Amino acid sequence: MELDRPVDELQFYVNGKKIVEKNADPEMTLLYYLRRKLGLTGTKLGCAEGGCGACTVMVSRFDVFQKKIVHYSVNACLAPICSLHNAAVTTVEGIGSTTTRLHPVQERIAKAHGSQCGFCTPGFVMSMYTLLRNNPKPTMEEIEETFQGNLCRCTGYRPILKGYSTFAVNSGCCGKAITTDCCMENNKTVPTCCKTKGSHDTHCLNRDKTNPADLVTRLYDPSEFKPLDPTQEPIFPPELQLHQKLLQKSVLFRGERVTWIQPSNLAELLELKFQYPNARLVVGNTEVGIEMKFKDMLYPVILAPVCIPELKAIQQTETGITFGGACTLTFIKNVLQKAVEKFPEYQTETFKAVLEQLKWFAGEQIRNVAAVAGNIMTASPISDLNPVFMSAQCKVTVASKDGTRAIRMDRNFFSGYRKTVVKPHEILLAIEIPFTKKGEFVSVYKQSTRQEDDIAIVNSAMRVLFREGTNTVEEIRLCYGGMSEKTALAQTTCETLKGREWNEALLEEACKLIAKEMTLEPSAPGGMVEFRRTLAISFFFKFYLTVLQKLSRYLNKNNNYIEQIPPSWISATELFHRDPPSSVQLFQAVPPGQCVEDVVGRPIMHLAAEKQATGEAVYCDDMPHFENELYLAVVTSTKPHAKIIAIDPTDALKMPGVVDFISAKDVPGSNLTGHLCFDETVFAEDTVTCIGYIIGAILADTQPHARRAAKAVKITYEELKPIITIQEAIENESFFLPIRKLEKGDIKQGFEEADHILEGEMHMGGQDHFYMETHCTIAVPKKENGEMELFASTQAASATQGLVAKALGVPSNRIVCRVKRMGGGFGGKESRTTMLSTVVAIAAHKAGRPVRCMYDRDEDMLITGGRHPFLGHYKVGFMKNGKIVALDVTYYSNAGNSMDLSIAIMERALLHMTNAYQVPNTRGVGYMCKTNLSSNTAFRGFGGPQAMMIAECWINDIALTCALPADQVRFLNLYKEGEITHYNLKLENCTVQRCWEECLAISDYHNRQKYVEEFNRQHRWRKRGIAVIPTVFGLSFTVRLLNQAGALVHIYKDGSVLVTHAGTEMGQGLHTKIVQIAGRALQIPADKIYISETSTNTVPNTSPTSASVSSDLNGMAVYNACQILLQRLKPFKEANPSGTWEEWVIAAYIDRVSLSATGFYKTPEIGYDFEKSEGMAFSYMSYGVACSEVEVDCLTGGHMNLRTDIVMDVGFSLNPAIDIGQVEGAFVQGLGLFTLEELRYSPEGFLYTRGPGMYKIPTLGDIPLEFNVTLLRDSPNSKAIYSSKGVGEPPLFLSSSVFFAIKDAIAFARADSGITGPFRLDSPATPERIRNACVDQFTKMCPSANPGTFKPWAVQV
Ligand SMILES: Cc1cc2nc3c(=O)[nH]c(=O)nc-3n(C[C@H](O)[C@H](O)[C@H](O)COP(=O)(O)OP(=O)(O)OC[C@H]3O[C@@H](n4cnc5c(N)ncnc54)[C@H](O)[C@@H]3O)c2cc1C
Ligand code: FES
Ligand code: FES
Repeated sequence: MELDRPVDELQFYVNGKKIVEKNADPEMTLLYYLRRKLGLTGTKLGCAEGGCGACTVMVSRFDVFQKKIVHYSVNACLAPICSLHNAAVTTVEGIGSTTTRLHPVQERIAKAHGSQCGFCTPGFVMSMYTLLRNNPKPTMEEIEETFQGNLCRCTGYRPILKGYSTFAVNSGCCGKAITTDCCMENNKTVPTCCKTKGSHDTHCLNRDKTNPADLVTRLYDPSEFKPLDPTQEPIFPPELQLHQKLLQKSVLFRGERVTWIQPSNLAELLELKFQYPNARLVVGNTEVGIEMKFKDMLYPVILAPVCIPELKAIQQTETGITFGGACTLTFIKNVLQKAVEKFPEYQTETFKAVLEQLKWFAGEQIRNVAAVAGNIMTASPISDLNPVFMSAQCKVTVASKDGTRAIRMDRNFFSGYRKTVVKPHEILLAIEIPFTKKGEFVSVYKQSTRQEDDIAIVNSAMRVLFREGTNTVEEIRLCYGGMSEKTALAQTTCETLKGREWNEALLEEACKLIAKEMTLEPSAPGGMVEFRRTLAISFFFKFYLTVLQKLSRYLNKNNNYIEQIPPSWISATELFHRDPPSSVQLFQAVPPGQCVEDVVGRPIMHLAAEKQATGEAVYCDDMPHFENELYLAVVTSTKPHAKIIAIDPTDALKMPGVVDFISAKDVPGSNLTGHLCFDETVFAEDTVTCIGYIIGAILADTQPHARRAAKAVKITYEELKPIITIQEAIENESFFLPIRKLEKGDIKQGFEEADHILEGEMHMGGQDHFYMETHCTIAVPKKENGEMELFASTQAASATQGLVAKALGVPSNRIVCRVKRMGGGFGGKESRTTMLSTVVAIAAHKAGRPVRCMYDRDEDMLITGGRHPFLGHYKVGFMKNGKIVALDVTYYSNAGNSMDLSIAIMERALLHMTNAYQVPNTRGVGYMCKTNLSSNTAFRGFGGPQAMMIAECWINDIALTCALPADQVRFLNLYKEGEITHYNLKLENCTVQRCWEECLAISDYHNRQKYVEEFNRQHRWRKRGIAVIPTVFGLSFTVRLLNQAGALVHIYKDGSVLVTHAGTEMGQGLHTKIVQIAGRALQIPADKIYISETSTNTVPNTSPTSASVSSDLNGMAVYNACQILLQRLKPFKEANPSGTWEEWVIAAYIDRVSLSATGFYKTPEIGYDFEKSEGMAFSYMSYGVACSEVEVDCLTGGHMNLRTDIVMDVGFSLNPAIDIGQVEGAFVQGLGLFTLEELRYSPEGFLYTRGPGMYKIPTLGDIPLEFNVTLLRDSPNSKAIYSSKGVGEPPLFLSSSVFFAIKDAIAFARADSGITGPFRLDSPATPERIRNACVDQFTKMCPSANPGTFKPWAVQV
């Protein structure tokens, strides 16, 4: 086929409407097309790499091979538009809207409070919708599986799952799958509690006598949900059912750089592959898409083999099942599942192994499109399928113009890193997965950071065949991924084991052989060297035990030459099995007699939830494009510390669509910027101090043009020595000043009095905010007097306004910053957004045109910083009974290359350094390390969680040292009413003891603790752990001036009310709470009140929306404005007492009374002076306690969160649904912080983890199997609006209970190896750290290399 032949028209349907695209560009994704060309902005961009699911849409096709219509979810960010030829796409807009009718999947996620910021919501909606299109009666397990590829950073997943469990055929009352009666219906006599399971009697919250009648559990009424009616779904376009005819014709699309050909038959494909041997065959595009987007690879010719029957065929033969290379993983899964049911068990060992690997392979959206040949041919060293195929020695058939040939997938198949023996002009036609024989056993293993949707750290497939009727090894193949540059066979080990009997001697020898053969250089890419080596051996140990079990069945149980497995070892062979999660939420009902129109205290839905669920909610990048708008892409430093010798944009400026290059010289005002001080530049001048430092920006007509050109700007550097880690900063005394200190009592005397003194150290890693919506700004220059309007996704509208004005050299009154909503913030949009906003504003000013930029996920993670990593050295003095008498801690935070908010973060760390404990003599010193990393910044908790974590670490050590239960030591030291903190705050209405007692009761802690001990006695390789952790968190900004807020309330003539206040909406439900507050204040129904946006021209000088006090401050300001208006309306009410609100309003208007008022609030008596150690640091405290239980796989380091019970004091909740949502969301975000999320840096400060592919935030599969939240009852707070309390940050730290439960489990494992006493476990408790801490005979076989003798792949910063 000639590549220069005329292009074809791309035809497909979107939401029932036919689209004909004459110039389809193969590089354009479906997501880009939907958002930019069709204006369908409901589908969101969260990562562009298939890792978050925000872009999920449903694709429907008539499958000519299966002869039926198939519906499947796909990631629109990876689907090339050309791959949609003759398909029908359904987006979130296509299934329902607030103006017509919400689809039940939209309605249920909204009403179940499953949408907070809403950025992930369309993705969840479309995943669920697709599942229901295929199966209107799914099981809970199927629902969970369908969400494996969807991330949510706000909700903690529980409400999403619970809302959608109403579609499930087997959903029980608490969410889990059951068939018994519902125990949660109060008025029912319950035969069984669905929360009771196993042998130990789990506590039923609902039947607990301590739960009084006014505690309720219902956050919404599922009986109000519209039923699902599958007959009402849009029909598949009939035209597309006829398209078999079209398949006979090949099609060609051509873009600026890439040509896409969809050949119609095999001969044509082979001819093309002959002509263009470097052409890529694209089926799912899940590899090629990533290579082109993130690795700057360009493939000028792409061949799409989706219509070639030979590549889609399946065939059962005598020896196995053969799959065409283009068969998708979902299709293979379905076929193999049926085969497992159909064939005798012994024949399907390999099939089951493939199915097990597919269970944890990516998410559903990826599996629906990714092809088996794509996985094999990519030849990734961590492919999940290749070890299975290699261990089974699968036969692949390859084809070329010259014919076909068969190749065994043996150790020679992979010839190097991402290379196979298949020749460039050949294609992989098919693969046969063979049947297994009698006496042949296969097992697979995969250990990744996160169980769901994560690539393996190490995976393995192990197969053994025994001589008939014996335990003598006939053949064995142990294949590993993640242990070399390619899928590897442990050849020597396998050869040595042949002919040997399957017994302990074999085990011992095999472990030694594997340790020798599966080695890694200490500086091997990917790091975790000891862990990976230990895993290779531990997997074999599991395999050994599994085979022993299977052998004893195969050779009859009583066969006396099969070794017996000790009962306590059996669990080593079990895989983690997860039941669907269950949960209970308890909160206090509003007082009897509260007016029904008064919604304060009621669990009303987030006001934008329905719009979020239909894709109608507008986020910054969803705003329609302005005419003449330009797109901006930043040019950033690739060096951590360097002088800039030259900047050369010449090549970039010649590229298509490029308009200009902007740099420091284009700044009309000041290039200096920053937050608590101006120590940063908008654009680099002569030096760069981190990788990701903004040097310049390209302006172009489109985003792809801008991005490509930005990469072509040449920067010449003279490199300077960087400082990356805290350790390096300490060695070089590289600190920001001042060094903060907080001291109380007499430290020296305290230590003298102590029975024991213990010293230790703990490092806590940082965290990326991973809000689903990345930073985004649109700047629109006005023609007059330097005016500019900014639309920004920021928590700090006024800071944006001020810094943009400074950079443009105009007064603030020329700049308006407007914020509609954010797709999550978590502190990450408090200060760092101004970096992008100033860059975009300068570019818009220079170009005189509107300019837009939304960071890609990798840019966002690289540039914008995150939570500060902390190192704490502690010395603690205590008595024999565990009572603490003295504490001395030195903290080092890794602040990065600028001060940003680091001083305030360190101050909060010092204020929270004892967490919930009374320590009479305390000293804390805080150093902020100045390093060559992107500046770290605010993140939910703001330094509090770091210091509290170190506190829980030393208190845990005290318990281990005194050999006392940790809960006993914690309770002994717990704050009591009226005690004075180390910063001289008297604790009033201190409810931490109440929370503690209620949490222990609800969680049935003492019984479960005994059960944990019993479990651990019976299990050697699985250990459980349980921990109860309190939290005491101070509410107020620690920077005094920020404790103020303004509001503007207008009442219009028709009685409708427009409220504007200083806070921004980022999903936390602030606007909803404010409407509830205004409704009660004005004594009108909430539906008369509206909040449109936050803007600097309505409420000036706003504090950032942070520190958990936005509803306190803004609620009070709005209340104040409402009171002013009520006073003005009073005469009219009195004149017409039986009148309506509308009548009073119009009467006031006619009487020329102003119906607009500003309100203001400042927190009284607030402000702590660190220099003088005096003043009031916090307005009030928030309290909570959590109890968590986990189970650890000591051989792999994996763990499962079994149960968490939280009791949280939120005062009188303004909105229990929102508050419980904040508690759950914060907890799960903290779960990520303490157990999953690890930012990994090279020794040069290069951030490896720049997207969901490598950086793992919690998924649905990580939430506790039982997840119960209780809001403490009868706990009014006189310091905040309507007796409420702030809730955003305080619960986050409760997730450390999971970390300490893990540590508890590890302590049991270590005890089995004869090791007792305190031990160091840094945070996060990743599988690597857990496995390495569970010291045993296998870890001892993999000692660490001596530090200093090698350059590690990654360093702890
Ligand atoms: C979010 C995400 C998660 C992932 N998770 C996992 C995981 O858990 N485990 C894992 O192993 N992988 C994972 N992957 C990798 C990837 O999904 C798989 O490798 C997938 O099977 C690739 O298939 P594809 O059809 O999308 O390949 P494509 O991107 O379409 O093609 C990949 C390569 O294969 C070649 N190719 C395809 N078909 C043929 C053929 N018939 N003959 C010759 N060459 C061919 C192409 O030329 C190309 O070079 C993940 C990827 C993403 C984006
Ligand atoms: S944007 Fe597509 S998966 Fe994240
Ligand atoms: S609601 Fe899911 S990411 Fe915000």
